[in-house]
Amino acid sequence: MAETATSDPTRHDSAPVLEVRGLTKRYGSVVALHDVTLDLIPGQVLALVGDNGAGKSTLLKILSGNATPSEGQLLVNGEPRLFRGPTDASAAGIATVYQDLALALDLDVTSNLFLGREIVTSSLPGRWLKWLDRGEMRRQTQAALDRVHIHVPDINRECGNLSGGQRQAVAIARAVTWCERVLLLDEPTAALGVEQQREVLNLIDHVRSLGTAVVLVSHQLPHVMEIADRIAVLRRGRLAALTDREAVTVERLVGLITGLEGEADGGTDLPASPEREAHGDLG
Ligand SMILES: Nc1ncnc2c1ncn2[C@@H]1O[C@H](COP(=O)(O)OP(=O)(O)OP(=O)(O)O)[C@@H](O)[C@H]1O
Ligand SMILES: [Mg+2]
Repeated sequence: MAETATSDPTRHDSAPVLEVRGLTKRYGSVVALHDVTLDLIPGQVLALVGDNGAGKSTLLKILSGNATPSEGQLLVNGEPRLFRGPTDASAAGIATVYQDLALALDLDVTSNLFLGREIVTSSLPGRWLKWLDRGEMRRQTQAALDRVHIHVPDINRECGNLSGGQRQAVAIARAVTWCERVLLLDEPTAALGVEQQREVLNLIDHVRSLGTAVVLVSHQLPHVMEIADRIAVLRRGRLAALTDREAVTVERLVGLITGLEGEADGGTDLPASPEREAHGDLG
């Protein structure tokens, strides 16, 4: 396997928290991902772009333990890891916010934040009878929201009564609360209004400043250009390019996504070679 983007001096400020090595995923005869290698750096946003069916969600599913690779490896803090399910990924500090968010809309913000991790009161009968410590959970919920600068009108409100942007914010706050190392976001702004999109982008920026490595799947290239530190382009399952944000334009990205760039280069895909990125060939 070729050296990765870590060979770029600018990447050495922080060691990668998660490394993807030669990932291939086959569904029968469909090759959803082919030999993808990249790494995630603490405090950086990696945008993952590509046309419909390019393999973005498949990659997130593997990183979040919801799919197993056909070939290849994941390394967490340099150690090879096999995720047998989402719990393994979660234990490794990886949280995912899916497009459908998976919030329980009939529960309030606090209950959603603590879903499956409820705090019971410390008294003996409380522990036996599993009395929930609502006060403590509320305090921690408010602290978690404050930490990521999220304002919801009332944490006792059912999530079904929150706006789309507020729900998205609660889902991200929950992910950040339980898993601080890696945050995977699949199209977090797709269904939102302009102001809500702005809130989510601000939130991603803030989460990055806390040292979390963020993967942002998005079809909205202006957002990608605004927020990403690096951009990975998937095309038909292959890593067509991995580049610093400063090294590309939206026009160039469109070319890489559609494959027109590759054709201009002689009809083949740009090699999924991080050295290209490391040497700034995409600039
Ligand atoms: N469970 C599955 N079984 C069979 N094929 C699958 C499965 N999941 C994904 N695929 C195929 O793998 C390829 C990549 O799909 P994926 O969902 O990763 O694309 P994507 O980049 O997320 O696209 P979109 O932008 O439309 O969300 C597609 O050809 C898809 O049909
Ligand atoms: Mg997808």
